This record gives sequence, structure tokens and C-alpha cells, in this order.
Amino acid sequence: MSEKVVSDYNGYDYKKEFWENVDREYEDQADRMAIRKLLPKRMEKFADIGGGYGRLAGEYLKRAHKVIIFDYSKTELEQAKEMYGDKIETRAGDIYKLPFKDNELDGLMMIRVTHHLKHMDKAMAELYRVLKPGGVAVIEVANKRTLPKIARYITGKSKVNPFDKKVANYKEISKDGFYNYHPKYVEDIFLKTGFSTEKVLSVSNFRSKTLKKVFKTDNLVKMEDKAQSALAPIRFAPSIYYKLRKPEE
Ligand SMILES: C[S@@+](CC[C@H](N)C(=O)[O-])C[C@H]1O[C@@H](n2cnc3c(N)ncnc32)[C@H](O)[C@@H]1O
Repeated sequence: MSEKVVSDYNGYDYKKEFWENVDREYEDQADRMAIRKLLPKRMEKFADIGGGYGRLAGEYLKRAHKVIIFDYSKTELEQAKEMYGDKIETRAGDIYKLPFKDNELDGLMMIRVTHHLKHMDKAMAELYRVLKPGGVAVIEVANKRTLPKIARYITGKSKVNPFDKKVANYKEISKDGFYNYHPKYVEDIFLKTGFSTEKVLSVSNFRSKTLKKVFKTDNLVKMEDKAQSALAPIRFAPSIYYKLRKPEE
């Protein structure tokens, strides 16, 4: 089945507007260190799903023999091609209908994409289909149960109940939707899809303008490194990373 793509990055300079025009060095480093901890060291065929312009390519190019950056946006994929040339293949399409064969990949990741997905169950079923038995998927989930969101709910500033397992759709952020997920909700989906969870990390724990000013990025990155495993059991960070495996047959 086909789903409406809720966030179209065609014609949007995500690299410049989101990553270069705003200080997000800490968030970028936090993503990278999580990926380094979770991705297998050697993979034959790997895909970055919703990989955009390949911001994170430096983390997987050396680990995989063949790399595919997959995205809906041709703008993003053209930028990726300009940056990485023959080191990557690009494929365009929709996550709900991936242009990959069954069992084609032995590794994939999907980072900063779930907030655009209305149907996590359908997206996860597609990721499962294209992975080989024994293959690994590293998935970042936009968490609805963060400490700031809990505080906003308790003080009446937000009506979204962070403890409710229902998917949160923050329509005010984008008219087409901006989804956040409860950890338990996605973990149930992973299980029902057939994945086993091998490791969980709490990521971007200190995502705050004030903390950046007080501690400076270098110090926050050092604290983040320790916090990713230590805080994983409570799952209160804005990004929760999962290392999932499709069982061997
Ligand atoms: C926030 S960007 C993240 C890019 C990259 N993963 C990163 O972390 O820098 C989200 C990306 O997901 C893509 N995307 C959103 N919905 C999609 C869909 N249904 N199918 C394919 N790509 C999609 C967008 O085009 C965009 O490039």
C-alpha cells in the first residue's frame, strides 16, 4: 500500500537550513557516537533509509562494501551524489514501499525519520522485509516521553500526555504532521514485526540551548558519551536508538 509522504524535502536545503545555519554540533555528534556504538563493523550491502544528503555517511562508508542512500527527496539525493560520487548509490522512493528486494540488505539505519511517519508498524514491516535474516537495523525514534514534554504537560502548557502510548501528532509544527512515539509503543511494534532488540541508547540527552551555553559543546559531548548507555533504561531523551536484529531462519 502507498501512504502519503508527510514531509517532502524536495526543494528544501536541509543541510544548510537545519544543520549549518543553526548550532547543532552537539546533536550531530550525539547521533554519530550512537551510530558508532550500534552499527556492525563490517557489512556487505547497507542502506541509509531516509538518509537525506548523507550527513552521516562518514559513519558507515568504511563499514560497508556497498552503500545505498535511500530517500523520497531528489534534492537530498542529488546533494548526496555531489558529495560522495561513486562511493554511494542513491535510490528514490517511499519508505512504505521500499524499492529493495526481500532479504537484499545485511544492514540498514533510519535516523531522524520516524517523526515523519504516521504508520510505524508499516514502515517497520518494510524494513524487516528487505533485511537478510541475521541483518541489523539501527533505528532512531523521536520520543514523546521526554522530561521537557512531561514538564509541559504537568504545568498545563501542552495537552499531549507523554505517558499515553498513543502516537502524538504535533500538528502545530507542520500542517501535515510531526509524530512522536512512546518507547513502549515502538518496542511492541519491533517485537510484533519479528525483530529482537540487542541494545538501546538514550541520545541527545542534553539537547537544550541553555545547557549548550553553560557547558559548551565539547563538554556536553563528553557527558553525552557516558549518558547514552547509563540513561537508556529510563528512556527520557528526545532520541532513543535501537539496535534491532532480524533473527536467523
Ligand atoms: C530529518 S531528515 C533526516 C535525514 C538523515 N537521516 C539525517 O539524519 O541527517 C528526514 C528525511 O526523511 C525523508 N523522508 C521522510 N518521509 C519519507 C518517506 N515516506 N519515504 C522516504 N523518505 C522520507 C526526507 O526526505 C528527509 O530526507
